Amino acid sequence: MTATLATPLFEAESYPRLSVIVAGTGNVGIEFLRLFRRQQQRLAGQLDLQLAGVFNSRKALLNSSLDSDTCPNVLAQSPEYELAELITYLQQLPAPKVLVDITPSQEFARLYPVFVAAGCHLISANKQGVTLPVSEYQAIQTALQQRDLHWYSNTTCGAGIPVQRVLQELRESGDQIRRVSGVFSGTLSWLLCRYDGSKPFSEFVLDAKALGYTEPDPRDDLSGKDVQRKLLVLARELQLPLELADIALTPLLPAGLEQGEWSEFWQHRVQLDQSMDAYFQAAQSANKVLRYAASLTLKEGTVIAEVKLVAVLPQDPLAALAPCENMFVIESDWYKDSPLVLKGPGAGREVTAGGLHADLAVLAKAIMAAF
Ligand SMILES: NC(=O)c1ccc[n+]([C@@H]2O[C@H](COP(=O)([O-])OP(=O)(O)OC[C@H]3O[C@@H](n4cnc5c(N)ncnc54)[C@H](OP(=O)(O)O)[C@@H]3O)[C@@H](O)[C@H]2O)c1
Repeated sequence: MTATLATPLFEAESYPRLSVIVAGTGNVGIEFLRLFRRQQQRLAGQLDLQLAGVFNSRKALLNSSLDSDTCPNVLAQSPEYELAELITYLQQLPAPKVLVDITPSQEFARLYPVFVAAGCHLISANKQGVTLPVSEYQAIQTALQQRDLHWYSNTTCGAGIPVQRVLQELRESGDQIRRVSGVFSGTLSWLLCRYDGSKPFSEFVLDAKALGYTEPDPRDDLSGKDVQRKLLVLARELQLPLELADIALTPLLPAGLEQGEWSEFWQHRVQLDQSMDAYFQAAQSANKVLRYAASLTLKEGTVIAEVKLVAVLPQDPLAALAPCENMFVIESDWYKDSPLVLKGPGAGREVTAGGLHADLAVLAKAIMAAF
């Protein structure tokens, strides 16, 4: 037997480096950065995870090895940046690299083709990218495929609940999805779980606003538009070429009340209260409860997508929802008699940042496997 020089199990070059660039330093972005070091430590010895950029709408820190703990403070002291500067930086950064979009901006999402051309994988919490018009969405997907890049967007619907991943796994395993339905708005879930007819509905809206559960103008929640966009996210996951306008939307808010100032709406709130009272009384007399539900039904080559108020019986999965929770009910060839149900908090910075790290972990695994 001849002696050989011992070689270390892992040499510095024996595992890949992944550069992460974070767009958005608001509620979720800051939490994502707070969790970053733990992810770095978890992957140490298998993948060199580096924070290589952090920026918001005004300021940017562009450096291939940033400290995630201190960068929010350093960013605050940094100068303003130009978009061209960011793009040149991304182009020059060695691959593999991933851009994590934690902004709410459609304008920013429209830059995805530029980021993909610069060689970036994408992770989005921002719904705007995955719900762009079909032609733009498909162009991004094609560009990603041509460059062998990935796009994860699990947090765009249901925050940390891995609904897109479950749908993807079922489809890739040969199952046929027949229907996806559920409650996708934590605010409307809270309102309809709490509303018991003891006082006007608008007073529950005020309670939700005071608890910080609503958008600054709660009519944005009551419009149902956010739920409509989330249903489109799931339609895209199922590779259905739907547009937002293909999803029938019945808002909770009676027509006309969405216009004007909040104070104007408040004067006319009795219209909302009366319509909700009528729905509530009808549901109660049928031993049902109200939920604001989204559904996507696939039947014999047709797709019916709708978002509306429904009344459900106590044995319906949607009846068993706690205030603020989201629920996804998946019916398929395999889950025919009893649907597959996913339930949990559908918003919140911890679960959303955690969900983004789950997407990052999936990407890291793919990069390690390909190395
Ligand atoms: N909060 C949740 O529970 C939750 C759940 C699921 C998904 N999401 C999604 O996560 C995203 C972030 O939510 P958030 O609550 O963290 O929002 P937020 O607190 O309002 O923060 C948004 C951040 O995005 C930055 N930004 C806006 N436009 C930009 C642009 N064009 N370029 C670069 N940066 C830009 C803002 O910059 P400035 O600081 O300069 O204004 C800010 O730092 C949203 O898309 C939201 O829908 C949130």
